[in-house]
Amino acid sequence: PGDGLALTPPMGFNNWNSTHCRAEFNEAMVKGIADIFVAKGLKDAGYQYVNLDDCWALPKRDADGKLVPDPVRFPNGIKAVADYVHSKGLKIGIYTSAGTKTCNTAGFPGALGHEKSDAQQFADWGIDYLKYDNCNNQGVDAKQRYRAMRDALKAASESAGHPIVYSICEWGENKPWEWAGEVGQLWRTTGDISDSWGSMLSIAKQNLPLSQYAGPGHWNDPDMLEVGNGGMTDTEYRSHFSLWSIMAAPLLIGTDLRKATDETYEILGNREVIGVDQDPLGKQGTVVSSAGGRWVIAKEMADGSRAVALFNETDRPQHIATTATGVGLPKSTAYRLRDLWSHKDYNTAGAISATVPAHGTVLYRASADTRWASYPPL
Ligand code: DGJ
Repeated sequence: PGDGLALTPPMGFNNWNSTHCRAEFNEAMVKGIADIFVAKGLKDAGYQYVNLDDCWALPKRDADGKLVPDPVRFPNGIKAVADYVHSKGLKIGIYTSAGTKTCNTAGFPGALGHEKSDAQQFADWGIDYLKYDNCNNQGVDAKQRYRAMRDALKAASESAGHPIVYSICEWGENKPWEWAGEVGQLWRTTGDISDSWGSMLSIAKQNLPLSQYAGPGHWNDPDMLEVGNGGMTDTEYRSHFSLWSIMAAPLLIGTDLRKATDETYEILGNREVIGVDQDPLGKQGTVVSSAGGRWVIAKEMADGSRAVALFNETDRPQHIATTATGVGLPKSTAYRLRDLWSHKDYNTAGAISATVPAHGTVLYRASADTRWASYPPL
């Protein structure tokens, strides 16, 4: 929406993929994640938002129509949690639905018809980010529902004196890529991800063709990360993280970092891969070729280089190959290839290739620069 918000894809955490509505989604978790963002260097790597999903409220509004935080999960309220997260130099997000109730069957209140007062309450708590879901929408036109909250957030955030990032979560049902650039900073393009290879792959394939709609302040959102949740191998999680980064997707960690392995931290904390996602040019990568499940995806970067993902969808190793000019680089006598997972540099006269393990991804950053001719050949 041209307000200078989310000029690169939002990065942070959301509890949904790891906890759903279970009791471990509570104040201790939210504070623990904020602590870990700082202690483990994730804040320095760019992760900023600590976001609450469905089930934070009580089913009933109070006598004044205000939302009431669940006193078991959040005994000190949301404002206290927001203050804590802010004290760590981080930002906090919350969730509700553009309907009469949220998605959970317990019947938590939605904001349809309560946009102004709910937005004001969020702003007063210090909320920096709202994810606005689509359940129980009563068949009211999506553009109307999502614009009503946009306007309410704008007014509330202006009076509170801090901006609120607006995440549109209507699951791609009304082609939000065609209209939501004027409404929020990101919009879901698909249904919910789950922690499986098949789900991750199908979502990536739905999101990849939408590259023309993404840019600074307006991003396609293929849903939150499953990295670390246990349903995929680390090779598959590296593919997941590589694909989300080359698609300039929001990077919202969806695993309980309090229990994460070193391998999970290594994936989520890979600054060179994050650098692909967060490149200031803000281009979503495009598919160069995809024959036989051997994908080549390239993303133009602000410095003229290209991020190149060689992604193997198949269940056996594959040789995947493209060329420097094929991914859009100018003609040169030598190119540098930086492998963003092994952190090694290579020199190539133009071939860009690798033998990629089953379900794996080799992610390069390729640049036309003869100074790199001294590196070992690919
Ligand atoms: C549907 C959304 O797509 C999910 O991301 C999550 O927010 C759930 N609703 C919560 O009920």
